[in-house]
Amino acid sequence: MMEGGKGPMTVKRFTGAVLVLMLAAAAGAQTHAVRVVLTIHADQPVHSVSPTLYGLMTEEINHSYEGGLYAELVSNESFRADWSGVHDWYVVQNGDSAASMAVDTGTGPSAAITHSLKLTVTKADGADKAGVLNVGYWGIAVRPQTTYQGSFWAKADSPEMGDVTVRLVNNETGKTLAAATVSGLGTSWREFPFTLKTGQVEASSANTLHLTVARPGTLWLSEVSLFPPTYDNQANGDRVDLMKMLAAMHPAFLRFPGGNYLEGNSIKERFDWQKTIGPLVDRPGHESPWGYWSSDHFGLLEFLDWCEDLHMQPVLAVYAGYSLNGEHVTPGPDLQPYVESALDEIEYATGGTDTKWGAVRAEDGHPAPFQLKYVEIGNEDFFDRSGSYNERFAQFFKAIKAKYPDLQLIATAPVTSVRPDVIDEHYYVRATKFFDDATHYDKTDRTGPKIFVGEWATREGTPTPNMDAALGDAAWMTGLERNSDIVIMASYAPLLTNVNPEALQWTPDLIGYDALHSYGSPSYYAQVMFSNHLGNEVLGSSVEGAGPRFFYSITGNAADKRLYLKLVNATSKPQALAVRFEGAGLTGSGELITLSAKSTQATNSITEPRNVVPVETPLRGVGADWTHEMPAYSIEVVQLDLR
Ligand code: AHR
Repeated sequence: MMEGGKGPMTVKRFTGAVLVLMLAAAAGAQTHAVRVVLTIHADQPVHSVSPTLYGLMTEEINHSYEGGLYAELVSNESFRADWSGVHDWYVVQNGDSAASMAVDTGTGPSAAITHSLKLTVTKADGADKAGVLNVGYWGIAVRPQTTYQGSFWAKADSPEMGDVTVRLVNNETGKTLAAATVSGLGTSWREFPFTLKTGQVEASSANTLHLTVARPGTLWLSEVSLFPPTYDNQANGDRVDLMKMLAAMHPAFLRFPGGNYLEGNSIKERFDWQKTIGPLVDRPGHESPWGYWSSDHFGLLEFLDWCEDLHMQPVLAVYAGYSLNGEHVTPGPDLQPYVESALDEIEYATGGTDTKWGAVRAEDGHPAPFQLKYVEIGNEDFFDRSGSYNERFAQFFKAIKAKYPDLQLIATAPVTSVRPDVIDEHYYVRATKFFDDATHYDKTDRTGPKIFVGEWATREGTPTPNMDAALGDAAWMTGLERNSDIVIMASYAPLLTNVNPEALQWTPDLIGYDALHSYGSPSYYAQVMFSNHLGNEVLGSSVEGAGPRFFYSITGNAADKRLYLKLVNATSKPQALAVRFEGAGLTGSGELITLSAKSTQATNSITEPRNVVPVETPLRGVGADWTHEMPAYSIEVVQLDLR
């Protein structure tokens, strides 16, 4: 189920040939004069397909986690403020109650969080309470018959402060949707849990969270939190709809934590993994390079848990001594603490509980070590004009290989000091470029390092890609598959965006959402189609009559008895095909999945999530000679069953 559980991912249809003709007629398009003749040598495998070809790349950008995948509903939970006030928090003064709020830098709940919100209530009573409200990440999603788990840290100037009332309030009606009473406030910092349960309310995101008191006094608050039910009901967990959309991609790996987010604008603002683990109250947070604060409540262990939940291999990127403002750490003794930190990070992920950092991970709630094969050293270090990456990479490479010889190490720029196992290459281009460059890896030297296309996307459409982008992506993916002996991994980027305009730093992004809904772009569906029909061998083939915007990939899986033909017609006209399957042993049955649109600009959005979605058609009677007509602007997967 997709789009917040509202509909099936694909549409089924049962009159394939008729509907394809109807689509062509409706598009009013004439078929290409030249028929594409494709000959598939199913008994002639060319090379194996990398089983890890399709994965995910992720970082905190566009509110990917906070206001996105991470299910926390309260924004600015630790009360950060600037000249404009305390972000996302407002004073509540019901009736003629009176209160004011200010950040108190003199007290906080932990050594990491040393400030808090000071709420001074000068007038309040049981009928007219005063306090604060939080607006969430462009709203707080509330659903009927749902239980929300919340907590906050607090202390008062006197135990006489009384109870704190917590309520979810609808902005339009002013009605309370759920309420809880928290008692026992004292004069020292303590964490207070609470539960909110909704009844028969309407699902909406126009809601706020209110914390109010009925007596005058002073109250300090920090780390206010509220979670809806999460994926697999995990504490501090993830949004169910987004996790289901990601699971449907069957990603083989997750590259994290960036991207620019790994590097930070400065060395001080890098992803400093040790500050992102342990109890949430002990994580200081940091400024992300994408212009907003990260609480780091989605930290290293949460990334690893995410891998485990979706059965993805972690591709752990370690900070390598270069940040976006051009600061770099000189290789040698200056760099050594960063190398040690990377070794500790690897131990945190993979070490037994008898190791220092493995024991810390166990204390953090995950005694079992994670499986790790790939470690990436830095991000886009070709931007480092000092030329230091050659030596920085070598220093990390030698130290990591000495302790973990089985790890495959990924370089983010060409190096000559040592031979990296894998090189990470990035492409952000228009569709026309991917059409022209779909053969990019056809002639790549097979004796060099393997290739990880760690970030790539057709940049067309906003906030999420349109059909032209999906066509560019699909054309590119046919080239990745055809060359997946050398291209062992590839990940589209960026993956996620909160579509609220204030949340965006980069477009387009594969999956869009607001507080309540989510949707897949045409490019998302193209990824799902390719990833779910990967095959394990590239098969021999030849083609005649193909124009410059016709692309295909042919793979098979003898064990699963399946053959997968991916087709891309990136033109405005239907394309007739004659396919000859040689040495295939077809049963005649299979399935055709079609993603098509009437124009390159057709797209999906938060309000129209299903304009462009895949359509599934069962296939019967497919023989050694099969004729087919692809709709204009279409991406198709033909899955055929083998004897
Ligand atoms: O994906 C967005 C950004 O593009 C990444 O953070 C960075 O690695 C690249 O430049």
